[in-house]
Amino acid sequence: MNLGIRPKVLNISRGLVSLRDNMRVLVIFYSRTGNTRRVAEAIAERLKADIEEIRDVKSRSGVLGFLRSGYEALAGRLPKIQQVSRSPDEYDLVLIGSPVWVGRLSSPMRAYLAIYGRSIKQTAFFCICKSDEGRVFKEMEALSKKPIATLCIREKEVKSGEYIKKIEEFVKALT
Ligand SMILES: Cc1cc2nc3c(=O)[nH]c(=O)nc-3n(C[C@H](O)[C@H](O)[C@H](O)COP(=O)(O)O)c2cc1C
Repeated sequence: MNLGIRPKVLNISRGLVSLRDNMRVLVIFYSRTGNTRRVAEAIAERLKADIEEIRDVKSRSGVLGFLRSGYEALAGRLPKIQQVSRSPDEYDLVLIGSPVWVGRLSSPMRAYLAIYGRSIKQTAFFCICKSDEGRVFKEMEALSKKPIATLCIREKEVKSGEYIKKIEEFVKALT
């Protein structure tokens, strides 16, 4: 059951599920410019979780990569991604992290969830944005499960280091 409590300051919601010591946890993320990676690594370290990065087949660098990313997110495209090494169905909890692109889920994460989303047993979401989460959590949920917790971090909080406090609250909400 999800109580849907979302304290405004931290933008965290939590359910009634607690993380047992022996639970296997995976953090899966996509990051084009490194912000989501930084947050994903900090979360995985605190949860002692395995971590896996979704990687593009075709580079997204530069202006053309930026424009293509926006187009793919808006159009709901499923770009080719490199093969992942971990099976999410082997984990009790899978944390899914993505940047916000034009208010949507990043297309590489959409491609990943289109393949593996249904095999995820229990999940929590996080996203990194400039201003707000847009439809990202709704899109993640549509491709996987209802999350037990969500966290949205602004890019400026990643740069300033303020994100640490937020992820500590997020991790607490999971444990
Ligand atoms: C194509 C594209 C579209 C974006 N659209 C949004 C948006 O709609 N809202 C927002 O808050 N941030 C938006 N951003 C900003 C990213 O979410 C932000 O820069 C984030 O930190 C990127 O994470 P990353 O470094 O892990 O790739 C967009 C970025 C890109 C590349």
